[in-house]
Amino acid sequence: MTLGELLNLIEKRLSEVSPSWKAEARTIICHVLNVETLDLVLSRDKMVTEAQLSQVEEMIRLRIGRYPLQYSLSKQDFYGLEFYVDSNVLIPRPETEILVEFVIGEAKRMHKGQTGRILDIGVGSGAIVVSLAHHLSHFRFVACDIDFGALAVAKRNGEKHGLNERITWIQSDLFANIDRKSTFDIIVSNPPYIPISDLANLEPEVSNHEPHLALFAGEDGLDFYRRIIPEALVFLTDGGLLAFEAGHDQHMAVEALFKEHGYIDVGHFNDLNGIPRFIYGKKHQVEGDIRCLKD
Ligand SMILES: C[S@@+](CC[C@H](N)C(=O)[O-])C[C@H]1O[C@@H](n2cnc3c(N)ncnc32)[C@H](O)[C@@H]1O
Repeated sequence: MTLGELLNLIEKRLSEVSPSWKAEARTIICHVLNVETLDLVLSRDKMVTEAQLSQVEEMIRLRIGRYPLQYSLSKQDFYGLEFYVDSNVLIPRPETEILVEFVIGEAKRMHKGQTGRILDIGVGSGAIVVSLAHHLSHFRFVACDIDFGALAVAKRNGEKHGLNERITWIQSDLFANIDRKSTFDIIVSNPPYIPISDLANLEPEVSNHEPHLALFAGEDGLDFYRRIIPEALVFLTDGGLLAFEAGHDQHMAVEALFKEHGYIDVGHFNDLNGIPRFIYGKKHQVEGDIRCLKD
């Protein structure tokens, strides 16, 4: 079979399951044949080997079973870097790049070249913390996840991009294993936020293959905001920033939680579809140490 014939065959089979079947077919061929997209046009008459054919067959079989292509490829691009991904982690989503962009801007504005500290809660693949570390060379980072499998993937990505010297990886249920004497200028999190009742409405790629630990957050999807917002006050520096990604209809509830716990400068901004998806607030400056009040 020629490469051109194989491409047509893959496109036909993927068109039954994926709206981006054309792009996915090209990605599969390029991955298996180890060629660039441009080579596909120039090499349509090239013969495909038996080994390549069976590798393509296996990838199509998985994809028809709605297995995410990124897990088969073991990679996903995020904020200009390539991340290793497997089924231990949520595949990083493009909208989360906007949260990263915001945090980089705030960190640079707050610190102007001095050393600062940032905590990422629920690192998954490490997409947020590794991107931040790549762009904020004078910051140090603590990154936690409750799941050892996710933490191993995130660490691998920190290593891949040569950033592990500035990132401390900690297995922790939110703040449970974070040293209570630590303080952070910024705490960032893209926590699980899907209400459990939405399970049936999710695409099979998500509901059947991405880790449920990364997706669901109780009845209304707000469980993690309810836990993180009050406890973050113990760890934030005065004036420190807490910033979240949230579900498409959650920003008002999350902003209310921020205000309820005395945060100032509470606000939100939109994703590229105009959905208010990112919410933030700052710890108000206090006389004395808030930890004395909390302990
Ligand atoms: C929505 S994913 C976000 C992953 C990554 N930060 C991203 O933006 O692509 C949420 C992550 O939170 C982790 N998680 C769930 N419950 C947690 C908990 N109680 N403490 C810490 N991390 C938790 C999950 O394992 C998952 O990796």
